[in-house]
This record gives sequence, C-alpha cells and structure tokens, in this order.
Amino acid sequence: MKLYMIVSLCALFALTQQAPSNKCLCELSTSEKVFPHDKLKAVEDGALKCNSDISPQKVAELDSLLLGLEIRLPQLQEDMSILEREDDGELYGVISLQVIENELKHINQLVARLKNVTLSHQRLTANTTEQLEDLTAKMQKLEVYDTMQVVNTQKTNQRLKKDLDQCKTGSNQASKPIQPPRGNCPHGRLLNITGSRVSTAGEYPGSYKYGAWGRDSKPEAGKEKWYWVVMMTVSNRFSNYVRFYATESSLIVGTSAGNVQINPTNPTTNTIQGPNVVLYGGALYYNCYNQDSICRFHLTNKTVVNVQLPKGTRFNSKGNFCHLEECYPFTDLDLATDESGVWVIYTTTQDFGNVVLSKVEEGEPLRLNQTWHTSLYKQGVTNTFMACGVLYATRYVTKDHEEIFYSFDTTTREERFDVNVFIQKRSPNIQSLNYSPVDKMLHVYSDSFMVSYKVLFG
Ligand SMILES: *[C@@H]1O[C@H](CO)[C@@H](O)[C@H](O)[C@H]1NC(C)=O
Ligand SMILES: *[C@@H]1O[C@H](CO)[C@@H](O)[C@H](O)[C@H]1NC(C)=O
Ligand SMILES: *[C@@H]1O[C@H](CO)[C@@H](O)[C@H](O)[C@H]1NC(C)=O
Ligand SMILES: *[C@@H]1O[C@H](CO)[C@@H](O)[C@H](O)[C@H]1NC(C)=O
Ligand SMILES: *[C@@H]1O[C@H](CO)[C@@H](O)[C@H](O)[C@H]1NC(C)=O
Repeated sequence: MKLYMIVSLCALFALTQQAPSNKCLCELSTSEKVFPHDKLKAVEDGALKCNSDISPQKVAELDSLLLGLEIRLPQLQEDMSILEREDDGELYGVISLQVIENELKHINQLVARLKNVTLSHQRLTANTTEQLEDLTAKMQKLEVYDTMQVVNTQKTNQRLKKDLDQCKTGSNQASKPIQPPRGNCPHGRLLNITGSRVSTAGEYPGSYKYGAWGRDSKPEAGKEKWYWVVMMTVSNRFSNYVRFYATESSLIVGTSAGNVQINPTNPTTNTIQGPNVVLYGGALYYNCYNQDSICRFHLTNKTVVNVQLPKGTRFNSKGNFCHLEECYPFTDLDLATDESGVWVIYTTTQDFGNVVLSKVEEGEPLRLNQTWHTSLYKQGVTNTFMACGVLYATRYVTKDHEEIFYSFDTTTREERFDVNVFIQKRSPNIQSLNYSPVDKMLHVYSDSFMVSYKVLFG
C-alpha cells in the first residue's frame, strides 16, 4: 500500500514539475523492519539440536546400568553368604574370595559408569535448560518483529501438522492414554452424584422387589417424556412385559399408559430373566430366559431378535452381582446405556469370574462389537453402569450408602479402584442401576423403590 502511494505521488510529481533532467528519483521508505529470517533459522537449528541431544538412548543407558546393578548386588550377597558358610580356611574359601573380588570389581565399574552418565546427564540438563531459556527469549524478540506474521503462521502450521499426525497415528493404532481419563465424553469425567431427585414407591408399593426403570435415551417420536418400568413379576426373576408412564408425575402417582407384552406366558422362550434391562431406541434389551444371550424386543412390531454371548458366559445365576451377605439372583447380565448406545456387562468361565464388557451394536442384525476384559471380580460388586464410554462399579458400604469405587475407561483401558463417590440409598439393596444420557441421571431400582440421582461431570 505504502509502496503504491509513493510511486503514484512520484508520477504526479513527474507530470507537474517537468524536471529539466527528465529524471525522477524516488526513495522507497518503509517503517517496517525487515523480518530477521536468519535469526529465526538460528533458533530453529538450536531447537533441533536440543531435541537430538536428549535422545532415548541416553535414558536407556541409565536404565540398563541400574538394571545391571540390581542383578549384581543380590548375586554378591549370595556369594558372600556362601563364603561365610564355606570358610574353612582352605581352598574353597580362597576360590570363593576370588569370585567375590571379581564381582566387586564389576560392581565398582558399573558404579563408576553410572556416576559418569549421571554427571553428563546433569550437565546436559543444565545446558538444555539454558539453551531453552535462550531460545524462548529469542522467540519472544522475534515475535515483536513479527508484523508480517511469519512466526505465527509457522507456529500455526506446525500445530496443524502435529494435529494431523496425531490424527493419523490415532486412527491407525490404539490411542494413547489421555490425562485425566474421560472416555469419549464431551462433558468430562464423573465427579459426584447428587442426592435423590425422584424417589417413589410407584404404582405397586413394595410388591416387586426386583425390577428396573428409566427413560429411553433414544426415544421414538412423541415418547420423549415417557418412563418405562420392568418388574420381575414371577419369583423375583422373570418378567414378560414393559409398563409405561407418559410423564414423570404419572410414574410417581402410578397412572400407567399401559403394558407392552412380549409373550402371554411367563417365563418362556425369549421373555425376560433378571432385572438389569434397558430400553433404547424403542426396544428392550435383556437377558433372554434360560439362555446365555441378549434379547431385543421391538415395542412397535413386538418381534424379538437375539445374539449369543461368547462361549463360557455365566448365566442362570452363576455370575451374579453380590455383596458380603448375599448375591442378587439372575443378575448375570447387566445391560447398560450411555452416550454411545447399548453395552452388556457379564462374566465368563475363562475370565475366572472377572467382569467382561462388550459393546452391543443397535443396528440390524443385533450383534456384539468390541469386548474388554477387566480385573474386576463380578461377585465383588453390587452393580455397574456405563457413562461416556467408562464402566463404573458399585459396592455395598452400609445400608444407607453404596460406593462407586471402580472405573474402567474403554478408550484408554485405564482401571481405577479409587473413584470414591457415594450414593445415598433409599433402601439397602440395589437390584438395578443404569445411566441415562438424555438427562444425565442414574436410575436405581432399590427394593421396589424407584430413585434417581443426577450425575455431576467436570
Ligand atoms: C566417562 O565419560 C567420558 C566422556 O563420555 C569418557 O571419556 C570416560 O571414559 C568415561 N569414564 C568411564 C569410567 O566410563
Ligand atoms: C552446551 O551446549 C553448547 C551447544 O551445543 C556447547 O557448545 C557447550 O559446550 C555445552 N556446554 C556444556 C557444559 O556441555
Ligand atoms: C458429593 O455429593 C454429596 C451429596 O450431594 C456431598 O455431600 C459431597 O460433599 C460431594 N462430594 C464432593 C467431593 O463434592
Ligand atoms: C421390527 O421393528 C424394527 C425397528 O423398527 C425393525 O428393525 C425390524 O426389522 C422389524 N421387524 C419386523 C419383523 O418387522
Ligand atoms: C464396531 O465399532 C466400530 C467403532 O465404533 C465401528 O466403526 C464398526 O462399524 C462396528 N462394527 C460393527 C460390526 O458394527
């Protein structure tokens, strides 16, 4: 812009003034300093050098020296004790002594090298720190010069390139652990649970000790506010229908919108076994009666499809949720929902009773996708739920408190046994527990009470 103006002024001058020499001299001046590319190059070279100075080999060297010492020291100790036992002042003692002298020599050498390496590491660290400080100062100065956005643009390019690389490697390999663990969660990780929000005895107070309730987190049109309840109506174990309520208040006062029946007979093939069921996308997912498989019952056309769980899956009350006093019968399979859809939590003989987790694909046909194996013993927990791709497990603390003590992140595979979040209970036992991503609530069926809690993420 400036250049253009000077030139046109110059032309004007030439036209009006008609200088005798017919020559026009123009001085191009700019307030902008020229960008110091050489300095930037020097900084870049410095950074490169810094990177190559601190190489993984240097760290590996230190590690192997330490390992050498770790192996040799116990060896020495053993040889010493042999010497003590054998010391008869004779030949054997002399040989042992030589062995030990040798050993000591080796160890001394190792220690000397270790000292050397440590010293050079210290120097390197000090030097690198110095260089880094120097580089930072230079970069800051360059940024002041940087009216042409050279440095900034390069920085942005580098960041984009790094993101791209991460993206590439991320899609090829298993993703690296991210801190803090959060799964594929947009709202962070589970921090706490509020006191109860809904707490009701429902339509049949005290009648059915086992059951489940909640909301469809992918509801059909017009049923967004509906609540569903499934009660184990035969022997606390079996059920053959889903009961609906059009609103939360109708659930509380017990005015039902009616049932959808799977089969008039209960129990029979493809009816419900066990309380840990979920409703998702207009279909009920549950453990099929007397089978090691998951059933899906479509509410609209009342058809059932199923998928077999892996061979060795424990069912028919062989792999239940428990606390110290007792187990909850027919809780072998726990169906769960979260932001990413439907999951199943179970255990198998080959996993020695530890919790196994599989993603259930909701599409047609019904099938399982990825599976994760945990080190959590299923009979050591009272229930589980999924939130944001993270599995959580609870244990019985007192009749008033349940603790969410365990988590397993399916993205990072990180397991934690110290989650330490407490649930204030309405009644001592929890027969089912599920997370609803639509309202971020935990729905708990507790000795025929229906209780909900808000999950706090952050
Ligand atoms: C210590 O390191 C220096 C330089 O790397 C090397 O010349 C010297 O031999 C090393 N000393 C020992 C005992 O390894
Ligand atoms: C620090 O690094 C610079 C540049 O590589 C080098 O010239 C200098 O000798 C190093 N100083 C020490 C103490 O290693
Ligand atoms: C978690 O929530 C409970 C109940 O609202 C509260 O008493 C407790 O202080 C909370 N804990 C933390 C760590 O915020
Ligand atoms: C039943 O409904 C589901 C969901 O709409 C659909 O995927 C399935 O194909 C239907 N089955 C039959 C037999 O119509
Ligand atoms: C399994 O899950 C992955 C990741 O979500 C998905 O891309 C793939 O299509 C799924 N496979 C099947 C068979 O549904």
